[in-house]
Amino acid sequence: MASTKPSIERLPTGVPGFDKLIQGGIPRGFFVAVVGEPGTGKTIFSIHFIAEGIRQGDKNIYVTTEETRESIIKQAAMFGFDFEKAIDDGKLVIIDALMGRHDDPWSLTELDVETLVNKIIEAKRYLGYGRARLVIDSMSAFWLDKPAMARRYSYYVKRILARWDFTALLTSQYAVTTSLGFGFGIEHVADGIIRFRKAVVRGELRRYVIIEKMRQTEHSLRMHEIEIRDGVGMRVKAPTQLRKEDTALPQSVAAKMLAAELQKLLEVPLGDEE
Ligand SMILES: Nc1ncnc2c1ncn2[C@@H]1O[C@H](COP(=O)(O)OP(=O)(O)OP(=O)(O)O)[C@@H](O)[C@H]1O
Ligand SMILES: [Mg+2]
Repeated sequence: MASTKPSIERLPTGVPGFDKLIQGGIPRGFFVAVVGEPGTGKTIFSIHFIAEGIRQGDKNIYVTTEETRESIIKQAAMFGFDFEKAIDDGKLVIIDALMGRHDDPWSLTELDVETLVNKIIEAKRYLGYGRARLVIDSMSAFWLDKPAMARRYSYYVKRILARWDFTALLTSQYAVTTSLGFGFGIEHVADGIIRFRKAVVRGELRRYVIIEKMRQTEHSLRMHEIEIRDGVGMRVKAPTQLRKEDTALPQSVAAKMLAAELQKLLEVPLGDEE
């Protein structure tokens, strides 16, 4: 029987090897959580997503809370992406939420979700009509002192910004000590979850990515190794032999979760040979 398949517009991420794991890209209008421990590649993945948006003529907004605007521009330049030119050309706004400078129109003087949302809408109006990409790096910065608000804040951000034709990446940190409190706000509200991980294998730091959720998508269930190289950026390498079930955090007891986090840092994943 012939069935009519809904056609879904997908936005390529610009990370070589990644888009084929999600049937070509992130569905337009999705809010996707990008989670992982420090240094696993969340910011670099987000930079690729914006660089691809610039290339495709999308409107692009990058909110940075833990690095300055200059730091993001510099990191992008290391991979050959000219964010400064994109800003000058009116294709990109980088909202700096770290420096809190009053003399900078694209700066957040308060880490408050309402201020954030208003500034993003102002940036979208400035960039003009059309398909837009948004990165909020990181979302967890907005509930540092009130983690219980994570879910409500995430919902608020999505509800307001959903009307503005954004396809969004919202990053969130996990660390051994904070994994219990962070991230869960976004993950429930998100249309997708992309998780970055790291492990030391035979004395070498390896990084991985796994798609834990992507609505309306037959996505890969495999953990894939990634590589970040100077002058090039991120790319997805071969899948590992691990499946999602092997790596998902146990949900029952908090202590178990903590143990799993610790184990991840110490243990060698199976079959990661290329
Ligand atoms: N020019 C470069 N060449 C090679 N590797 C690089 C380069 N720049 C950064 N890296 C690697 O990328 C890592 C940083 O990745 P990224 O900033 O995306 O992490 P993150 O997940 O955003 O971390 P955090 O949660 O701390 O913000 C560095 O620790 C380094 O290993
Ligand atoms: Mg980062």
